[in-house]
Amino acid sequence: MVQLVVTNRDGQVVEVEAEVGGSVMESIRDMDASIEAICGGMCSCATCHCLVDINWLEQLPARSDDELELLEELECFDPSRSRLVCQIPVTEELDGLVLTVGPEE
Ligand code: FES
Repeated sequence: MVQLVVTNRDGQVVEVEAEVGGSVMESIRDMDASIEAICGGMCSCATCHCLVDINWLEQLPARSDDELELLEELECFDPSRSRLVCQIPVTEELDGLVLTVGPEE
C-alpha cells in the first residue's frame, strides 16, 4: 500500500491508501467529493480528471494519445497538470503522490 494525498472537490485534503497494481482512479473514486469515473477506467469518459502536483509530473507515465484527446476537450484542461487517473497505475514510486480532483464539467 502507498499513500496518496488528494484534495477533493470540497477543498479538503485527504490521505488515501492505494493498492500497488491498481489504478489511481480505483484508489480515490470512493472518497467524498471525488471523481465519478463513469466508464470504469476505459479511457472514454474523462470523468476521472485530476490535476497532479507539478513536483510529481516526472514520475508519471506519459499520456497516451487517447488520454490527451479526451483531456483537451475539457474546459479546465491544464496542459501540464491534467491527467485521467484511470490511466495511472499505482506503483511504490508514487508513495506520497499529490493531486487535486478536477472541477465538475
Ligand atoms: S474512468 Fe473514464 S476516462 Fe478514466
